[in-house]
Amino acid sequence: MAIGFVAFEFDADKRDVTRIPPEHGVRSGALVQGRRHGAGAAGLSQRHRRLFHVLDPRQFDRALLDDLCALSTRLRRHARSRLGARSLQTLLPHKRAMLYFTQPSTRTFLSFDNACHLLGVRTSEIRDPAISSEVKGETFEDSIRTFSSYVDVIIMRTHEAGMAAQSAALMDRIKRPVPIINAGSGRDQHPTQALLDIHTLERSFGRRGGIDGKTIGLMGDLRRGRTARSLAYLMKNYRDVRLVFIAPDDFGMGSDIKVHLREHGLPFHETRELGSVIGDLDAIYVTRLQTEHDVGDESKGYEHARYRIGPEQLPALRSDAVIMHPLPRGPEIDPAIDADPRAMYWRQERNGMWMRVALLVKIFEVEDELPP
Ligand code: NCD
Repeated sequence: MAIGFVAFEFDADKRDVTRIPPEHGVRSGALVQGRRHGAGAAGLSQRHRRLFHVLDPRQFDRALLDDLCALSTRLRRHARSRLGARSLQTLLPHKRAMLYFTQPSTRTFLSFDNACHLLGVRTSEIRDPAISSEVKGETFEDSIRTFSSYVDVIIMRTHEAGMAAQSAALMDRIKRPVPIINAGSGRDQHPTQALLDIHTLERSFGRRGGIDGKTIGLMGDLRRGRTARSLAYLMKNYRDVRLVFIAPDDFGMGSDIKVHLREHGLPFHETRELGSVIGDLDAIYVTRLQTEHDVGDESKGYEHARYRIGPEQLPALRSDAVIMHPLPRGPEIDPAIDADPRAMYWRQERNGMWMRVALLVKIFEVEDELPP
């Protein structure tokens, strides 16, 4: 069945690539540091800008996304040989990273940690605020400022939204600012996951013209799932993309994201029925029910059986479609489909590490030191 999309005109000029609306509490200058002009200066080519804080997917434009994807592939290729891997380790041995993860994490933590090590960056970590001076009453801002005294980049995941942005604003007020990377901010955003998701989509559609022109379904708890929210933001960078949101009414995509998509002329369609759209999708991005954000029994009525992919759904899916999931998974992806060539989630994990290596290379501007 053809999907009835809310149609909007594609208008590339409307795409403001570096500014984030003021409600995010971040000055545009905090995101991409201009060498000669302000960060948002129109027409400033990527080469003259430095990627600094990574806070929100809206700071990425197409040129930077393409650059990061190509760089990630290049770095991965280098690391295949012993000499190549050794040369990567000589890029940033003078840098230190702080991994401040006060919300549970397996993949994001490990992939950042290993990304740092692949580049020779030394890491320290706090995963439990109960063992930092925050228990003695130290404020969040003082803790961040303290970390910044010892390291060159702070990678952080928090329960609450806005903490990475708040830290970046603090950095921009002090003498020795270090970049802040948002590795997941509450229910709000997960920009580096969105980058690795884009990388996975681009690789998967490598022989089919990339992401441009594709129909991408996002399914599950879209209201509270930060990965789907961040990925939806990045989609404005691709031409003729259509999004399909598949979720029960109470778990639909947030209106803030839908307003953004409308403003950028990106057509989307919403449905409760996977079966009505599955055959139209080039990719389906499945997400889990975010029960940790329940304040009451919101998750109780969620019908897992309707928002899952298992062997029964596979015949309806196009033979060249891809199935993605940020992981960890719940019942929404049946392990019985793991061996299907369309299942991309394990590759997605590995792409995540290389995308994070690329991000660090960009932030510390050592790309030119790489062998061709
Ligand atoms: C996601 C997250 O933490 O938002 N996981 C991840 O980073 N790979 C997805 C999730 O937990 O549902």
